[in-house]
Amino acid sequence: MKIERPRGTRDFLPEDMWKRRFTENAIMEVLNSYNYEEILIPTFEHLELFEIKSGEEIKKHMYVFEDKGKRNLCLRPEATASVCRMFVENLRNRQLPIRLYYSCPMFRYDEPQKGRYREFWQIGVELIGSKSSESDAEVIALAIDILKKLGLKFKLEISHLGIIRGLLNDLGISKDNQSMIFSYIDKGDLENIKKIMKSDIFFKLIDIRRKRDALELAHSMLDGHENSINALKELQKILRLLDFSEIEYEVNLGIVRGLEYYTGMVFEISVPNLGAQNQICGGGRYDELIELLGGPKTPAVGFAFGFDRIIEAMEMQKIEILSKNPDLLIAPANDSVRDAAWKLTMKLRKNLVEKRIDIDLMNRKLEKILEYASRIGVKNVIIVGEKDLSKNKVALRNMKTGEQKLVEIDEIAKNID
Ligand code: HAM
Repeated sequence: MKIERPRGTRDFLPEDMWKRRFTENAIMEVLNSYNYEEILIPTFEHLELFEIKSGEEIKKHMYVFEDKGKRNLCLRPEATASVCRMFVENLRNRQLPIRLYYSCPMFRYDEPQKGRYREFWQIGVELIGSKSSESDAEVIALAIDILKKLGLKFKLEISHLGIIRGLLNDLGISKDNQSMIFSYIDKGDLENIKKIMKSDIFFKLIDIRRKRDALELAHSMLDGHENSINALKELQKILRLLDFSEIEYEVNLGIVRGLEYYTGMVFEISVPNLGAQNQICGGGRYDELIELLGGPKTPAVGFAFGFDRIIEAMEMQKIEILSKNPDLLIAPANDSVRDAAWKLTMKLRKNLVEKRIDIDLMNRKLEKILEYASRIGVKNVIIVGEKDLSKNKVALRNMKTGEQKLVEIDEIAKNID
C-alpha cells in the first residue's frame, strides 16, 4: 500500500536540509549577536490561547482537535501568543527587557500553493518589556541585518496602526467594524470597506506609499486627529533610528497585518518576483496581548520570518549554498583488513570531528569502492592494505587529482585539507 504525505506538508531531502540548516545557523548567529536567547514552545496549545486576540483569519485556519481528556487543543498556528503565555507562566519575574527567539514549524489549514504550506517554519523574535522606539527599531534592524547577511534583495514596508485607528475612532467606527475594515484592507478589498464608511482621508491615507516624506503628507491630512498625529510622531521616531542605520524602507499606511493583537508599529518585508506569496517577514508591536493573557501590562514587539519563503527567495535570487562533500572514505583493500579499516574509521571519526568520514558498508571490491567514491564526490579515499598496515601506513588517494601516496596513520590529518 502506497501512502503519500498529507497535503501541504513536505519531505526535506538531505540537500534541502543542508541548505536549511546552513541558513538557520547563519540567522541564529545574528540573533545571538543582538543578545536574543532561544526558546521552544509546545507544538499544541489550548485553543483559547489563539481565540483571545489572534483574529478571525488565524482562527479559520487552525488545526483544532479534542484529546482523550476532552480538552480543546490546536496545533500552534503562530508563536507570539504562545510566547506571551510562556512569559506569563515562567518569565514574568525576570529583568526586562527579555529578548527571545524561536525556530519551529507552525500549522495553518491554508490552501497549499508555492510558498504556502500547511506545515511551515518560522524563525521569529519577541522583545518583551520595552515601549521605546529603540525597541521597535531594534527588531526591524535585526530582521534587515539577517536578510543582508543572507545576501537577499528585499523590500521593507512600515506603518503604525495608531494612525488609521485614531482616524476610525474619531469617525465613530465601532471596534467590530474596525476589525472588519482591517481585514478588508489586508485582503485589498476596498469595495467592502466603502459599504461601511466613505471617508476620503481614510482611502487616501491607506494608499500612501512613500519614503519618509509620507509622514508629512499624512500629517497634512490628519489635522485635528490628535491620536493619529501622536502615532505619526511615534513612527517618525522609529524611522529616524532606522535612518541612522541607513535602512531603506517605504511607509505604507495600508499595512495592517492579518493578526489582531497589533497595537502600534507594524512592518512587512517582501521579495519582489517571488510570486503570490512574496511576504517573507511580518511583525509589529503588541502592547496589550500579555495583559489579555492574564499577565501584567507589558509592552512587546516582534516579528517572524517565513523560513521556507526565505529559502525559496534565496534559490530564486541564485544565492547558492553548496552542500559539503564527504572528506574521507575508508576502503579496505580486501576482507582480511576489514576489522583494521573499521578501527581506523572509528579512530578518525573521534579525532577529526569536523570532517565527514565514510566507510564502505556494502562489501564492495576496491575497484567498486573507488567508483562509488567518485560518484558521491569524496575528496580523499584511504585504502587500507595488509602490507602498508604492517608498516603503520595507508594509501591516501586524492580523488580530484588521482594522486596517491603512502602516509603514516598518525599523519593522515596533516595530509588532507
Ligand atoms: P504572520 O505574518 O502570520 O505573522 O507570519 C509571519 C510569516 O510567516 C509570513 O510573513 C510568511 O512569510 C510566513 N507564513 C505565514 N503563513 C505561511 C504559510 N501558510 N506557508 C508558508 N509561510 C507562511 C506571525 O505569525 C506573527 N506571529 C509574527 C510576529 C511575531 N509578530 C510579532 N511577533
